[in-house]
Amino acid sequence: MKNIALNIDKVKGFVSEETILAYESKVAEAQKALEEGTAPGNDFLGWLHLPSSITKEFIEEIKATAQVLRENCEVVVVAGIGGSYLGARAIIEALSNNFAAFIGDKKNPTVIFAGHNISEDYLSELTEFLKDKKFGVINISKSGTTTETALAFRLLKKQCEDQRGKEMASKVIVAITDAVKGAARITANKEGYKSFIIPDNVGGRFSVLTPVGLLPIAIAGFDIEALVNGAQDMEKATAPTVPFTENIAAMYAATRNALYAAGKKIEILVNYQPKLHFTSEWWKQLYGESEGKENKGIFPASVDFTTDLHSMGQWIQEGERTIFETVLSIEEPNSSITVPSDEENLDGLNFLAGKHVDEVNKMAELGTQLAHVDGGVPNIRISIPKLNEYYLGQLIYFFEIGCGISGYVLGVNPFNQPGVEAYKKNMFALLDKPGYEEESKAIRARL
Ligand code: PA5
Repeated sequence: MKNIALNIDKVKGFVSEETILAYESKVAEAQKALEEGTAPGNDFLGWLHLPSSITKEFIEEIKATAQVLRENCEVVVVAGIGGSYLGARAIIEALSNNFAAFIGDKKNPTVIFAGHNISEDYLSELTEFLKDKKFGVINISKSGTTTETALAFRLLKKQCEDQRGKEMASKVIVAITDAVKGAARITANKEGYKSFIIPDNVGGRFSVLTPVGLLPIAIAGFDIEALVNGAQDMEKATAPTVPFTENIAAMYAATRNALYAAGKKIEILVNYQPKLHFTSEWWKQLYGESEGKENKGIFPASVDFTTDLHSMGQWIQEGERTIFETVLSIEEPNSSITVPSDEENLDGLNFLAGKHVDEVNKMAELGTQLAHVDGGVPNIRISIPKLNEYYLGQLIYFFEIGCGISGYVLGVNPFNQPGVEAYKKNMFALLDKPGYEEESKAIRARL
């Protein structure tokens, strides 16, 4: 089986190969710190050897729970936010039919998401949508106390019990949370829900290969064994024993740090497949929350091409030269369609007749890469042989290990997120949450 591949040729006109190779010792130190757990954040390294520690029995347990929901639900709502939802959404959307939401799927329940916003419209429209559906809920929250998720779950639990009865509700509601603490755990124990534990040493954004990602993905009908196999193979391919220049995660971490040091402060993750939109959202959280601290860090952005070439293309081609691109390039499409010939040829497209649409897409990709490089935008390419579970598993682990190495090379703790508390404190003060009396007074004085 091939591996995903990294190509940094189109970076070398901006930072020299020597500059990138000079990161070898820093990268090796970062890898050593990860392996030995000697750097800040060392209590959150459970993801590092997670793929190789996943057993057949564990996969079977996930599949058995998935089967209960598959048999009893038309719709499964995943309630979670940030690391407790983006991984599952990324993989499910990458593997699903582009029109799944409209076609409906007779074989698999539809997996939808909630608990990642506080929109009254979203939640009331969700309630309306679910009112004649046999639905189940996966309540995912490591802390078990996240407001967005808890709010959605409160509504979903009540609706599920009202519609399906308490007994069925306790069968089709699953909790994925801490082993002992938090409201999600307490409720699960009280109501007798099937539950899974998010390991203490795996942070939310690194948790897609725990039940957080695996259960929703299995419910949606995808092969979690292949996903895990891909991650396991990438764990081997990026081990510290693999020589620097052959280790794609080490080279990715070195290249992006070299670009950052050369003034390229924004990394744009590019795809040419709309199904990868949420893969970019997952990646943005992974890198943004891991590296953006202490007034440092590459700003992770994303675009969907060729769509966004008609909106953001101008900025990328000619705007401030502080960006670089990392392109996710899918080598082979899963379906096939060719451009038909047209007698009148009014659109002038007969020169494309008989060609696969993917060939046109690939030439757009190549043409864009060269144009952007000419315009001063360094380009990294990640080639993915096919969009399937196995290669997505590889991609997940590649980005996770690349992030751990890159964060340590940058000199931050990639495994905390102190900055996300600031908005919560203000929101609770403004909502007069008990215990926030002093903050409430202080914040009101500022309004
Ligand atoms: O990566 C993280 O730690 C965060 O994005 C969390 O996943 C997110 O805030 C949700 O937290 P919780 O799972 O505790 O509800």
